[in-house]
Formats: sequence, C-alpha cells, structure tokens
Amino acid sequence: MASKLTPKLFSWLILPTLLLIFLYSQSLPLYAPTSSKPKISISSSCNLFKGKWVNDPNRKPIYDESCPFHRNAWNCLRNQRENMGRINSWKWKPDRCDLTRIDPVGFLGSMRNKNIGFVGDSLNENFLVSFLCTLRVADSTAKKWKRKGAWRGAYFPKFNVTVGYHRAVLLAKYEWQPKQLDDSNQDGLKGRYRVDVDIPADDWAHIGAFYNVLVFNTGHWWGFDKFPKETPLVFYKAGQLIQPPLEMFDGLKVVLENMIAFIEKELPEETLKYWRLQSPRHFQGGDWNQNGSCTVDGPLDELQLDLWFDPRYNGVNKEARRLNHLIEEVLKGTTIRSLDLTHLSEFRADAHPAIWLGKKDAVLVWGQDCMHWCLPGVPDTWVDILAQLITPHILETG
Ligand SMILES: *[C@@H]1O[C@H](CO)[C@@H](O)[C@H](O)[C@H]1NC(C)=O
Ligand SMILES: *[C@@H]1O[C@H](CO)[C@@H](O)[C@H](O)[C@H]1NC(C)=O
Repeated sequence: MASKLTPKLFSWLILPTLLLIFLYSQSLPLYAPTSSKPKISISSSCNLFKGKWVNDPNRKPIYDESCPFHRNAWNCLRNQRENMGRINSWKWKPDRCDLTRIDPVGFLGSMRNKNIGFVGDSLNENFLVSFLCTLRVADSTAKKWKRKGAWRGAYFPKFNVTVGYHRAVLLAKYEWQPKQLDDSNQDGLKGRYRVDVDIPADDWAHIGAFYNVLVFNTGHWWGFDKFPKETPLVFYKAGQLIQPPLEMFDGLKVVLENMIAFIEKELPEETLKYWRLQSPRHFQGGDWNQNGSCTVDGPLDELQLDLWFDPRYNGVNKEARRLNHLIEEVLKGTTIRSLDLTHLSEFRADAHPAIWLGKKDAVLVWGQDCMHWCLPGVPDTWVDILAQLITPHILETG
C-alpha cells in the first residue's frame, strides 16, 4: 500500500513545493536572476520587509538632537517627546535573516565618489534626514549641499559622496491656474492645479547621471485634503486636457505610468532605482484635522494592522495600502525595485512626533503629526534596509 502511494505522494508534494519556490523567488524584491555571483544570491533568499519588532533595551540611536541636518518638527529629542528611549529600543527582525545596522564608515567607503538621491514628498525628506544624520557620524566635516533643482542634501568630503533630496510631491509638473472668466460658478471653484502627466517636475527632470542610486516616492499629496473640489487637479497630456477629465486616483495612475516611462527611458541603465512604497499614517479617533491623535506607547500588534489599514474597514489610515496596490501594478516589468517599507512601519503608531512639534501652537493650528516620523526613529531602520540592499550592487559594479 505504502509503496503504491509513494510515487503519487512524491509528485503531489514535490510539484507544489517547486511551484512555491518558484513563486517565492518571483516575489523577491531584489536581484534579478542575471546576477550569477553565489555570494549575492544567498542574501536574495531573505525578504527584509517581512518580520517583527523585538525589544532590545540596550539599543541606542546612532545620532542625537545635535545633528545639523535635522528638521525642527521631527527633532523629537530636542522637542522632548516622551518615550524616545522606548521608541528607539525596538529592532526590526526580518523573519528569515537579520537586518544589519548600517556601519556609516564602511558604507560611505563603499560609496566613495558616488551619489544617492531622493525624489518625492516630505516622507522621502524624512528618510533623507535620517540618512544624513546617520552618515555624518562617519564624517563630521559633512556640509549642507544644494544646487539648482535640489531642495536640500549633504556632501561628505572625506568620501566624496553627495546625498540629495529633490522635492517633487506629485513627481509630474504641476502649476496653479486661477479661475477663468468663462468658468461657470460651480461649487465655489477658485482655480485648478494643472498637472502635465508626461512632464517631470523641473526639480528632478535634469538630474541625469549625477546619482548612482535613486529613491522615488509619491502618494501622500494625492488626496482631497491637499486638492479639494474648490482647487482640484486637472490632467493634461501632450499639452491637451485629457478628456473625459480624470478623477484624482486615475490621474495618479497615468502620472505613475508616465513618470516611470520617463525614468526608464531617460535615466542611465546602471543607476540603481528604487520606489519607496507608502509610509502609513496613524491617526486615531479622527483624521489630522479632526483631532486625530497618536500618543500610543508601543508598536501595534500584528492582529491590529488590518483593522487600521485594510481599505475594507474604511478607517482614516486606509489610503497607504490602496496606493501601494496601484504603484506595484505600474512598477511590474520595470527595472525599478520596490522598497516596501509600509508593512514594517504600520506597526509603529508609537513613533510619530504627535504633539511634540517644538512650537507652542503647532498642534492647535496643524493638529498632531501622526504622519512623519520622529528622528532618531523608524526611518533609521529604512536606512539600514536601503544600505543592506544597495551595498552588494555597489561592490559588484565597482
Ligand atoms: C568625486 O565624485 C565625482 C562623481 O560624483 C567625480 O566625478 C569626481 O572626480 C570625484 N572627485 C574626486 C576628487 O575624486
Ligand atoms: C477638537 O478639539 C477641540 C478642543 O477640544 C474642539 O473644540 C473641536 O471641536 C474638536 N474638533 C473636532 C473636529 O472634533
């Protein structure tokens, strides 16, 4: 009986296993199979984006409030945010491997004569500031850096490395158009923002070959709080109004398609390109303008995540996953790798600036900040992940 069953059992077990291995290898975010170096394929068996936060009371941040690249509202140590010791005692532990903490000297050494760029909205700036403050530990002569098109950045003279940020919240070019005379008196319309879906914003259209690594993002501005019906987005392609007019979310899809086509066509093939997926928000009890708050004192439980973020439950923080879905669809088949920092960040309702914004009336005027992140904090883990992902490529290509 057993001997009769064995071959069948064998094929029933082996086939699905092979299929699973195949599917898993397809889902890996990094290293296309063109790389033949065995050392590199080992790390490809690891998905850094799935795991859990574990507490390590001895863990300390790499930098402090004195870093000259801080933005005041995110400098939570200086703003005396409660709980900063605890916020920085959590370590991200991927399920099947370890995330190593960046070694700023080793990292900058391997990046010598190379440049890293961030393009997108303030959540990428949040990422940048963490990166600059971390790298500065290896080169205290680091200088603020800015050039045409760049919003901010730093130059690390000891290593001849520049890390810059180009602010382009929608990625595509957009401009304000006041209400026209022939506009009928619709719904209190004040004017429109014209988005040219096929033209990248000037801030990054000409970065050309300057950067060896680029990290893009967009998404946080694609909402009706930024562009309400009195001042909506209208979409143009090849200089013509797209007809019928696109809803905001369809407009985002067309912008993504066009910007990604531009990146693929115009930026050098050897530039390492990443797309940072959405950073989740953690407003509880209301949205940002409805007294929403995030004074939580530890990471969320895995079981709570769907309740906070699954669009089916229609909570105030649902947009990140919805946008990610769209972004991942458009990224398919491109050379841009997705940097899926969403899931690991979803846990960290405890790590936003919240009410500690460093200005007396900021909370009254703006509400709590449950969107950006305290520094030092969660973006330092984003930095560890990015460094671990790009280092083997940089070493490989020299
Ligand atoms: C610094 O790096 C740039 C590339 O970003 C390179 O063109 C330049 O020659 C380097 N300078 C020195 C002094 O090595
Ligand atoms: C927010 O809180 C303030 C003060 O407690 C209150 O006056 C206001 O009505 C609240 N706003 C909303 C939208 O709930």
